[in-house]
Amino acid sequence: MRDVLTEKNINSLGKGANIFLHMHKFEEFMMMYSCAMKEVKTKFEILKDDMTVRHNRNPIEAIKTRLKRPESIYDKLKRLGCEISVQSVIENINDVAGVRVICSFVDDIYEIADIFSKQDDITVLKIKDYIKNPKPNGYRSYHMIVEIPVFFADHKRPMKVEVQFRTIAMDFWASLEHKMKYKCGIPETQGIMNELKECADVIFEADRKMLMIREKVEKSEKLTGKKEINFTA
Ligand code: GTP
Ligand code: MG
Repeated sequence: MRDVLTEKNINSLGKGANIFLHMHKFEEFMMMYSCAMKEVKTKFEILKDDMTVRHNRNPIEAIKTRLKRPESIYDKLKRLGCEISVQSVIENINDVAGVRVICSFVDDIYEIADIFSKQDDITVLKIKDYIKNPKPNGYRSYHMIVEIPVFFADHKRPMKVEVQFRTIAMDFWASLEHKMKYKCGIPETQGIMNELKECADVIFEADRKMLMIREKVEKSEKLTGKKEINFTA
């Protein structure tokens, strides 16, 4: 699968999506990541269904997927100072396939991440807990790089997938911050950065309060004797 593009080649092709479309086996390579992404997405859909039916609650609000665009892969390899090749992408880029799991409450993130990472076909390669350790700009999420075996027609291959776990509130902040940072091209002045950080902290406080309210609701449900439907009993 080694197919190196030289600087000269790249220049002759022009920078952008076309670069990778000219690479031998690139379509096959992206198909493999897309399959890995589907495998992981299905796992969370199953967890969502199981929790809803057997545990009478749904900690997963939404599951989103994205494949990294060829030009973003190229830019990242360049930024990292890596060789521009399929093998180099496999070795150096962990987020070609991305799955985002939007949870209802902060504690759901840790519960779902734990259940998922204990599945025996999942190998956790890396964890970044930006909830316990938020980024200086206020960004919060729980990131995991995992490896999952994907069964193709004639072989099995371990594939890397980046999974991001967030609450609805964290997703709201990250989506708008991302839009403003990349789409509108706002200059990152200290004032704007401070305001975004303030917003992130307000949002996190709201998340914390929501969790407290849920705990109160659960407590009063228990007191009033409202029973959960339990099919395993
Ligand atoms: P990337 O090269 O950006 O992928 O970063 P990384 O390899 O150091 O990994 P990290 O876990 O820090 O970030 C991975 C992904 O998390 C990014 O591609 C974004 O999707 C998201 N992310 C990280 N930091 C921020 C941030 O400050 N704002 C927003 N909106 N998203 C972020
Ligand atoms: Mg990324």
